[in-house]
Amino acid sequence: MKNSVAHKNSHIILIGYMGCGKTVVGKLLSKKLNLNWIDLDQVIELKENMKISKIFKTKGELGFRKIENKVLTEILRKSNKHVISLGGGTPCYYNNMNLITENSKNVFYLKNSVKTLSKRLLNEKKDRPILSEFKTLNKIEEFVSKHLFERMFFYNKASHIIDSEKWGIKKNVYEIIKILNQ
Ligand code: S3P
Repeated sequence: MKNSVAHKNSHIILIGYMGCGKTVVGKLLSKKLNLNWIDLDQVIELKENMKISKIFKTKGELGFRKIENKVLTEILRKSNKHVISLGGGTPCYYNNMNLITENSKNVFYLKNSVKTLSKRLLNEKKDRPILSEFKTLNKIEEFVSKHLFERMFFYNKASHIIDSEKWGIKKNVYEIIKILNQ
């Protein structure tokens, strides 16, 4: 009983690879649940007063990961319940995934295939410094396939895996709400 009450009050956290829909799903989910929504990358950009790509350029990926870890820790401390969309790499650095799973039993991994992610990312790679050097769909697919494989270990620690491939965004949201109501 105590546990189920605790998890009803804990943050709802969305994780998954770049392009899996964390932002869009998070925004819609927060509206449907009447909760505040936080996008970790947006908070980082506001705090640093710099786009993520600029942070990568000036401080390097390591610099970005340090800031990401600090801001994640601050966000998870918020006492009122939020929907939180994390960055694709957030669960994979420092002790972030432990922090995340210790903080919430409502961690959802939005799982998509390499093909779907790569197609989306080809059109959306402008703001994603990690992908900037890959110019063609083939190159992106090759990279995503290896990178996703490395990251899967962390993503699979989520409390729930949503087969995002199967659903449209709206259905993802309903599926998450259904699980939350169980
Ligand atoms: C990253 C994903 C990005 C952003 C940064 C690094 C990653 O967030 O945090 O560019 O390492 O996968 P999105 O997953 O929201 O694109």
